[in-house]
Amino acid sequence: MTMTSGEAIALALGSNRSLHWRNPTVTTVLMLTLDHLTKRYGTLTALDDISLTIKPGEFFGLLGPNGAGKSTLMSLVAGLRAPEAGRITLNGKPLSVAEASSRAGLGLVPQSVALYPELSADQNLRIFGELYGLHGTLLKTRIDEALVAVQLADRRHDQVKTFSGGMQRRLNLVAALLHRPKLLLCDEPTVGIDPQSRNAIFDFLEARAREGLTVIYSTHYMEEATRLCSRIAIIDHGRILALGTLDELLAQLPFEEEIRFPAREETLALAAQLPAWGEFITADGVHRFRPRADCKLSEFFALTESLGLPPRLFTSQRPTLEALFLHLTGRNLRE
Ligand SMILES: Nc1ncnc2c1ncn2[C@@H]1O[C@H](COP(=O)(O)OP(=O)(O)OP(=O)(O)O)[C@@H](O)[C@H]1O
Ligand SMILES: [Mg+2]
Repeated sequence: MTMTSGEAIALALGSNRSLHWRNPTVTTVLMLTLDHLTKRYGTLTALDDISLTIKPGEFFGLLGPNGAGKSTLMSLVAGLRAPEAGRITLNGKPLSVAEASSRAGLGLVPQSVALYPELSADQNLRIFGELYGLHGTLLKTRIDEALVAVQLADRRHDQVKTFSGGMQRRLNLVAALLHRPKLLLCDEPTVGIDPQSRNAIFDFLEARAREGLTVIYSTHYMEEATRLCSRIAIIDHGRILALGTLDELLAQLPFEEEIRFPAREETLALAAQLPAWGEFITADGVHRFRPRADCKLSEFFALTESLGLPPRLFTSQRPTLEALFLHLTGRNLRE
């Protein structure tokens, strides 16, 4: 889903309904439930009968490739679009697209940076804060804290268009937290940024999560979901393919480890035998072998030894969510 920055700002803030935001009454968001949610764009079903419950304090991951439906799900939870079927409840109360007050405890970090490039960081945060109903000393304190938290205090009065992509992302993130929501929707907040900014965002979000913020975090990087999320839903073509903690998800794989070795002439004879022993994939010059549960590793290494292959050729590791996605769909997460 693509949004212009202006649209994203309007959507993120519900500014056309800003009156409701001036007196946020919801102080605690405990539980978010999606119940048989379906969203269509014309004939395309972007979300197909999605049900899940996000518990208070969870760092919940939505992991899926381009077009999986992550942003659509975020936009429904943020109340920016209405589903064709199903419903969303916050603390048991239906979330209303028409009533912004029903979403006062939510914050949205949209996928595309939603800031005014001609204005300074301070001016941008001021606009967001005022739309969320903050004023005076409280707003100033929140802006001070926000800029310090994402290491932008010294750039406070610089125009946002002079910021790097990573700096803009960091600012975009704290703008969504000025009103202290209890549930933060983060839609791929690290796309296209340098590792340093990415780590700053991770550290920041992890600190907020420790303070009790509930986070829904969408990504197509399994490394991010693995590092950050206490539970993860793997989604593809608008459906949840798997859901659970990392351990629960990886337990769905019919193998417990992956052995990698180089794809070259000396390993040809070995490679020819392995498909019978488990899952066998070759990509980027590397063979990946995932032995079936009944395959004894001692037998595997006896075979490699009999073929005269030295142990240093082989590395063994725990499978990843990437392997699970491949197992479930036959495709890579990023193609
Ligand atoms: N406004 C729209 N009009 C029509 N189709 C849309 C619209 N927004 C999204 N789609 C389609 O709905 C599906 C889900 O899109 P969505 O943006 O939710 O996926 P995503 O998981 O966020 O992908 P990405 O990782 O690329 O951001 C895609 O097939 C997309 O083309
Ligand atoms: Mg998206």
